[in-house]
Amino acid sequence: MAKKAKFSVNGYFKDLMGWFKLMKRREELIASGDPSKIDTSDYPMELSKQLHPGLMKAVIVEVKEETPSTRTFTFKAAEGYRLPFFYAGQYISVKFCINGNWVTRPFSISSAPMEADRDGILQITLRKKPGGYVTDYVWNNWKAGTEVQFDGAFGDNYWSSIRDAEHVVAIAGGSGVTAYRSIAKDMADTGRPKKLTILYGSRNQDDIIFYEELNQIAAASEGAIEVFHILSEPKEGWMGETGFISADVIKKLVPNWDKVSYFISGPQAMYHFLDKEFAAMNIRKKFIRKEEYGEIDDITKYDIYPKGNEDKTFKIKVVFGKDERIIDAKATDTVVVSLEKAGIAPDSHCRSGACGFCRSLLLEGEVWQRSQSDGVRAADKDMGYFHPCSAYPMSDLTIEVCSRL
Ligand code: FES
Repeated sequence: MAKKAKFSVNGYFKDLMGWFKLMKRREELIASGDPSKIDTSDYPMELSKQLHPGLMKAVIVEVKEETPSTRTFTFKAAEGYRLPFFYAGQYISVKFCINGNWVTRPFSISSAPMEADRDGILQITLRKKPGGYVTDYVWNNWKAGTEVQFDGAFGDNYWSSIRDAEHVVAIAGGSGVTAYRSIAKDMADTGRPKKLTILYGSRNQDDIIFYEELNQIAAASEGAIEVFHILSEPKEGWMGETGFISADVIKKLVPNWDKVSYFISGPQAMYHFLDKEFAAMNIRKKFIRKEEYGEIDDITKYDIYPKGNEDKTFKIKVVFGKDERIIDAKATDTVVVSLEKAGIAPDSHCRSGACGFCRSLLLEGEVWQRSQSDGVRAADKDMGYFHPCSAYPMSDLTIEVCSRL
């Protein structure tokens, strides 16, 4: 029979007295000692500053063309700064000043944590959007020697032993594969998770990013990493999978499909599509991890967007500190985009309602947002807070911006 632990009131009392004695002894030592020799370092604070250094500056040391529309930018920390700690799969929030207005954009880190440690580099890989406000700026201005500013790292699209299965199926669409290059490189370095299957959807052969590199990483992994390409509009000669990454394709390529964790990174349309496929496969939500950062390009393409508002423009009265301004806001722009256009950028990182950095007060009026982008906590909602990065005005508004770039 197991012995019962012997605790008594007397024991607790002794412990408490011991603590008082310890504190008294400590005070005596401090009083008798040389104050200059007392270690006043705040180790938790030092560690916290290293893990969350706030705004960082880095210098671009290399620009590499991956495909005709995709470039990898390699950063090194600027003098006096250090690269952030991050998990493979996380993103940084880059700050841009374009035509005098500050804006932010989240970009996945495409290099591995050990490359930051070993080589002092961090990479992001961007695809140019036709007419893209920020990517146009990047293509015209970012070259070797350019200084960039960013915060991070953020996001939960990384593998965790207490949360995820040992076999990860990473589903990528387009430039969504950048996070999985980081995870694949990290896995080659750490051996965790045990298995990674990348299902990578592209339009055609020319659109595939890191084709050779991912094949090389997979070949060196002795079966631990597999990469399958699925093309929706393949050019002649393609012998691989075609169409979309459907339940049928997943089941065909991943025999143990019901015992894995799914990570998803790609365009919004892919999330929509996969939601239905996963529902049909009965995959539990805890095994699905989506990297839903970044804005929706055209909200009117969503059936759920309230009809009849497409061409409307409203007024937003913006309160920040002691100042007030009235700005125009299209019903198809998020409140954050309207604020940035007016030169009043709140702090923002994920730009999809998840992180809470843009949290502001909605004092009057009505906003609409997709339920998937509603990351506002219940207690915040009760106090009138909303996330302007994922909210669209449906009437004139009065808001208070709590933090600015
Ligand atoms: S920027 Fe993340 S919630 Fe708005």
